[in-house]
Amino acid sequence: MNILIITVLLVVFPAIIKATDPVSLEVFPYAYFQGGPRTFNIQSCEYFSWIGKQIASVKLHGGTCAKLYKSNSCMKDEGCNGEICHLAYPKVQEPILSKELFHNLNSAQACATTTSTIICPKGTWVRRMDFGDDSLRSGITIRCYEPGSRTPNVTLNTHGKHLTTYSSQNCQGAARGVRVFKNTTYNFIPKAEALCNYSSSIGPDSRQCNKTDALVGITVIIEELSNVIKEIQPICRFVENPAKLCTPADGYEPVVVCDNRLGFTSTTCQYGVTEGVGITKTLTDKQSLSLNFYGEFGIGAGASAGDALKATFAAKLGFSKTTDFDWSQSSSSTWTEQTSVQVSIQTPPGVITRLEQVIGKCSFYEVDVNYFKRIDTRGNGTSTSLLVASHEMLKQK
Ligand SMILES: *[C@@H]1O[C@H](CO)[C@@H](O)[C@H](O)[C@H]1NC(C)=O
Ligand SMILES: *[C@@H]1O[C@H](CO)[C@@H](O)[C@H](O)[C@H]1NC(C)=O
Ligand SMILES: *[C@@H]1O[C@H](CO)[C@@H](O)[C@H](O)[C@H]1NC(C)=O
Ligand SMILES: *[C@@H]1O[C@H](CO)[C@@H](O)[C@H](O)[C@H]1NC(C)=O
Ligand SMILES: *[C@@H]1O[C@H](CO)[C@@H](O)[C@H](O)[C@H]1NC(C)=O
Repeated sequence: MNILIITVLLVVFPAIIKATDPVSLEVFPYAYFQGGPRTFNIQSCEYFSWIGKQIASVKLHGGTCAKLYKSNSCMKDEGCNGEICHLAYPKVQEPILSKELFHNLNSAQACATTTSTIICPKGTWVRRMDFGDDSLRSGITIRCYEPGSRTPNVTLNTHGKHLTTYSSQNCQGAARGVRVFKNTTYNFIPKAEALCNYSSSIGPDSRQCNKTDALVGITVIIEELSNVIKEIQPICRFVENPAKLCTPADGYEPVVVCDNRLGFTSTTCQYGVTEGVGITKTLTDKQSLSLNFYGEFGIGAGASAGDALKATFAAKLGFSKTTDFDWSQSSSSTWTEQTSVQVSIQTPPGVITRLEQVIGKCSFYEVDVNYFKRIDTRGNGTSTSLLVASHEMLKQK
């Protein structure tokens, strides 16, 4: 019955136990025995056949954790049952084992490890990492941000802990990977740092995301008892162009006002009009940070955004009730990099001409469309309004 329950629990909660790293353990016999110390490389349970004797102390030479076992009374027990003590980093030497222990100590085993994965929710990215200052034994904390957001959506720690003392790294845009500093003597990672910049030439200590990806999490291998990190792997996600994901909106924005109320003849009104895709002139703080984020992946204004924006506006806005402009019928010149031209119109005497242009907005993108509304207001207060489908046609009015 007991066996059945244990089996069920293992299936329901599969602890991911990895093969342990070998540990190099030096064992010192008690002084009154002949012979010097001996070194064992142990992984799974190791029986100290040479002893059956008395051990005064043990020391870790490589690896960070070993468990020590005693024998069962007079029987020669070669299994690792009945743990009596362990050595776990930062304690690497058990100087003098108590008399009771050294009489019985006769097997040892490397400690087990588990994997822990922390990963940001979709749409958020690692920008800041905190590293515990106890050789990472209380883990690494990642903070997941939406591009441009000043506050993280989620904060996650590899060891399920809340770090009280740590060093932090803030990337400007996105973290691109992790650099590890291994302790080659004890074979663990006491120090790591975030890689904020993609580099085409990286050393063996850098675990970097691909160029088009950003960091969204890490998997670490944690050793029991010592809690040290044995290995770190980055988890990366492709950074999608925001032009594909943003929510478009449009409206008329003023281009020029020509006041000829006091004139006796028509007057020429000159102004510049812009057409194409650019970055909005009224960047909010959040949009500006977001632009930094995407800029690192070569995503900005211009041709790269044009095609994606065209599809987004056509699909999500289509015929706009706000402007009476049909985005699915837009001309190809709308979706190229912004260009400006000088245009002039004639305003009759006694009239104020207001010219407005259709402007689309999506995330930090602005789309200036060659589509205008001309409003002429007369002295007696009446006005006429006219939609003009290009600046070429404006000239002819
Ligand atoms: C992140 O947090 C903001 C503000 O609390 C929220 O509006 C947004 O939906 C969150 N994003 C994700 C991907 O959870
Ligand atoms: C890495 O990027 C940061 C901005 O996130 C910048 O300040 C820094 O100079 C860059 N470092 C290198 C070596 O390019
Ligand atoms: C490894 O850690 C030990 C104990 O903290 C330290 O004395 C030693 O210098 C470290 N070795 C390397 C190669 O970092
Ligand atoms: C980089 O891309 C390759 C091919 O798509 C993939 O196999 C690999 O896992 C990626 N590396 C990282 C660190 O995501
Ligand atoms: C206002 O003036 C215009 C032209 O000067 C004229 O055509 C229109 O009838 C006038 N409207 C009113 C309400 O007086």
